[in-house]
Amino acid sequence: MKMERRIAGVIYILITFALVTEMSINVQAKDNNKRRPKDKTGGFQKNICDVSDRDSKVHCYCENTREPRNATKAECWVFNGGIPRDDLIWQSFASQPTLQTLSFNVRVDGALGYVPTKALHFLKNLSSINIRYGNIADVTSFAFANLTNLTDITLSQNQIENLQQYSFAHLPNITLINLEDNMILEISTEVFFDLPKLHKLVFTKNNISSIRDGAFLHTFNLLELDLNKNNIIHLRRRTFDGLANLRKLDLRRNRIYNLTEYTFAELWNLQELLLGKNDLKYISERAFDGLSQLRKLSLDDNKLVTLPAHLFEGVRGLSSLDLRSNELHALTFDNIKPILDNLKPQNSNLLLEENNFVCDCRLKWMHLLRNDTKSQNTRQSLESVTCKMDPPIVSSAYNKMSDVIENKIKFNQEILHAGITIETLNDKMNITEKKTIPEELNKEQSNGIPVTKKVTKRFVLKIPPENLPCLRDAETTTEAPTFIVDPVIPIQNEMKTYRFQETNTAYRLSFNLSVVLWCCLAFFFT
Ligand SMILES: *[C@@H]1O[C@H](CO)[C@@H](O)[C@H](O)[C@H]1NC(C)=O
Ligand SMILES: *[C@@H]1O[C@H](CO)[C@@H](O)[C@H](O)[C@H]1NC(C)=O
Ligand SMILES: *[C@@H]1O[C@H](CO)[C@@H](O)[C@H](O)[C@H]1NC(C)=O
Ligand SMILES: *[C@@H]1O[C@H](CO)[C@@H](O)[C@H](O)[C@H]1NC(C)=O
Ligand SMILES: *[C@@H]1O[C@H](CO)[C@@H](O)[C@H](O)[C@H]1NC(C)=O
Ligand SMILES: *[C@@H]1O[C@H](CO)[C@@H](O)[C@H](O)[C@H]1NC(C)=O
Ligand SMILES: *[C@@H]1O[C@H](CO)[C@@H](O)[C@H](O)[C@H]1NC(C)=O
Ligand SMILES: *[C@@H]1O[C@H](CO)[C@@H](O)[C@H](O)[C@H]1NC(C)=O
Ligand SMILES: *[C@@H]1O[C@H](CO)[C@@H](O)[C@H](O)[C@H]1NC(C)=O
Repeated sequence: MKMERRIAGVIYILITFALVTEMSINVQAKDNNKRRPKDKTGGFQKNICDVSDRDSKVHCYCENTREPRNATKAECWVFNGGIPRDDLIWQSFASQPTLQTLSFNVRVDGALGYVPTKALHFLKNLSSINIRYGNIADVTSFAFANLTNLTDITLSQNQIENLQQYSFAHLPNITLINLEDNMILEISTEVFFDLPKLHKLVFTKNNISSIRDGAFLHTFNLLELDLNKNNIIHLRRRTFDGLANLRKLDLRRNRIYNLTEYTFAELWNLQELLLGKNDLKYISERAFDGLSQLRKLSLDDNKLVTLPAHLFEGVRGLSSLDLRSNELHALTFDNIKPILDNLKPQNSNLLLEENNFVCDCRLKWMHLLRNDTKSQNTRQSLESVTCKMDPPIVSSAYNKMSDVIENKIKFNQEILHAGITIETLNDKMNITEKKTIPEELNKEQSNGIPVTKKVTKRFVLKIPPENLPCLRDAETTTEAPTFIVDPVIPIQNEMKTYRFQETNTAYRLSFNLSVVLWCCLAFFFT
C-alpha cells in the first residue's frame, strides 16, 4: 500500500514537473519568436522562487530552497505596474505546490488590483496568505479558491471597498481573516460563508457604516469580531444574529449614539463588549439584556448623561466597567446594585473619572465600595472621582464647553461673574484668575460642607457621606428621580426638569444664598 502510494506520488511529481517544464519551454519559444514587447505581462517563469527575468513583475524569495516543488515559504514583491488577471505569471506558482506561507508586497511602482486566485489554485497546501499595499477594490466570489488548508488570510492596506457575496467561502480550516485598514463600506450577507472554524474577524480601520441583518449568520464559530474605528451609527436587533459563540466584540471609535433594546441579545457567550469612544447618549434599559456571560463592558468617552436605573440587571456577571469621560451627573446605588459584589475582588474594575457628577447622596455607595473592594484600580478611580456642588450654574458652563475652547476669555469671565471657579477646568485651560479669591472666603461654611478654594469640584470620597445633600425624598431610597428611568426621553428635557425640581430644595436655596453673598464679597474686594 505505502509503496504504491509513494510510487504514485513520484509519478505525479514527475508528470507535473514535465508539464511545468514544457509550458516554460513553450513560453520561452513564443517569447523568442515574438522578440518583444514583453513588458505588458508578468510572463511565465519556470520556478517562481528563482526568477531571473529582470522585467518580471513578480519576484519571490523563498525560504529553504529555490528548487522547484520544495519551498514552503515565499515572499513576493510586485513591481512594474499592473498585471492582467490571467497573466501567465500566476501559473508559475504551479512550480511550488508545497508552499504553505505566501505573501505579496506591492511596491509603489507596482499594482495588484485583485486577489490572485489563479495562483492560489495551485497551492493546495497553503495555510497562510498575506497581501499588502494592493489596490484590490473588490474581493470577488471564491477568491481563495476553496483551499482546504488555508488557516489565515491577511489583507491589510489594500484599499478594499467591496466584499462580494462568497468572497470568503468554503474554507474549512480558516481561523483568521484580517481586513484591517481598508475602505470597506458595508458588510452584506453571505460574504462569509461555510467557514466552520473562523474564530477571528478583523475590520479595524475601515469605513463601514452598514451591516446587513444576518451578515454573520454563517460565522457561528466566531469568537472575536473587531469593528474598531469604523463609521457605524446604528446597530439593530438582528445585526449580530448568528454570533452565539462570540466572546469579544470591539465597537470602539464608531459613531453609535443610541443603543436600543436587545441589540446584543443573540450574543449569549459574549464576555467582552467595547463601546468606548462613540457618541452614545441614549441606552435602552434592556440594551444589554441577554449578555449573561459579560465580564467586561467599556463605555468610556461617550456622551452619557444618565443611565437607566436597571441597566445592569441583565449583565449580572459584569466585573469590569469603564464609564470614564462621560457626562454622567449621577450613578445611583440602583444602577450599581446588580453588580456591586463583582466589583469587590482584586481583579475587578470600576472606572468613573471625568464625569459631571453632582455631589449628592446618590453617590454615597462609593464610600461603601471604596472600603469593601480589594481592587486597587477601583479604589484609585473612586478616590479621584469628583463631583460638583452647584449643578445648574456649572452644567450651563459645561454646556458651553465647545465655545469655550474657542473662546477662553469669554468663558473665563462668565465663570468669574457667576462668582465660582472650577478647578479642573481651570487647570486644563490654564486659567489662573482664581488665585484672586480672598483667603477668608475659602473657609466659609455652607450647609455643613466646608467650602474651600475648590468650591464647585470636589473629590466625592473627601466629603463625609452624611454631608452629601439629598434631593427631595432621595435620603431613604437613594434612587434616581423617576424621570431618569425612561431612557427615551431626550436628555436635555431631563436636565431641565431636574434643575427645576432641584431648585425647590432647601439645600439649593442655602447654596444660592452663599453664592450671592460670595459675589458681593468678591465685588467688594476688587
Ligand atoms: C528539499 O528540501 C529539503 C530540506 O528542506 C532537502 O533535504 C531536500 O534535499 C530538498 N529536495 C530537493 C529536491 O531539493
Ligand atoms: C502538503 O504538506 C504536507 C506536510 O504538511 C506534505 O506531507 C504533503 O506532501 C504536501 N502536499 C503537497 C501537495 O505538497
Ligand atoms: C493539508 O494539511 C494536511 C495536514 O498538515 C496534510 O496532510 C495535507 O496533505 C495538506 N494538503 C491538502 C491538500 O489537504
Ligand atoms: C468553490 O466551491 C463552490 C461550491 O462548491 C463552487 O461553486 C465554486 O466554483 C468553487 N470555486 C473555486 C474557485 O473552486
Ligand atoms: C482541513 O480540513 C479538512 C476537512 O475539510 C481536513 O481533512 C484537513 O486535514 C484539514 N487540514 C488541516 C491542516 O487541518
Ligand atoms: C466613508 O464613507 C462615507 C459614506 O458612507 C463617505 O462619504 C466618506 O467619504 C468615506 N470616507 C472615506 C475616508 O473614504
Ligand atoms: C433610539 O432608537 C429607538 C429604536 O430605534 C427609537 O425608538 C428611539 O427614538 C431612538 N432614540 C433616539 C433619541 O434617537
Ligand atoms: C470606611 O472606612 C473608614 C476608615 O476605615 C471609616 O471611617 C468609614 O466609616 C467607612 N465607611 C463606610 C461607609 O463604611
Ligand atoms: C498649561 O500649561 C502647561 C505648562 O504650564 C502646559 O504644559 C500645558 O500644555 C498647558 N495646557 C493648556 C491646555 O494650554
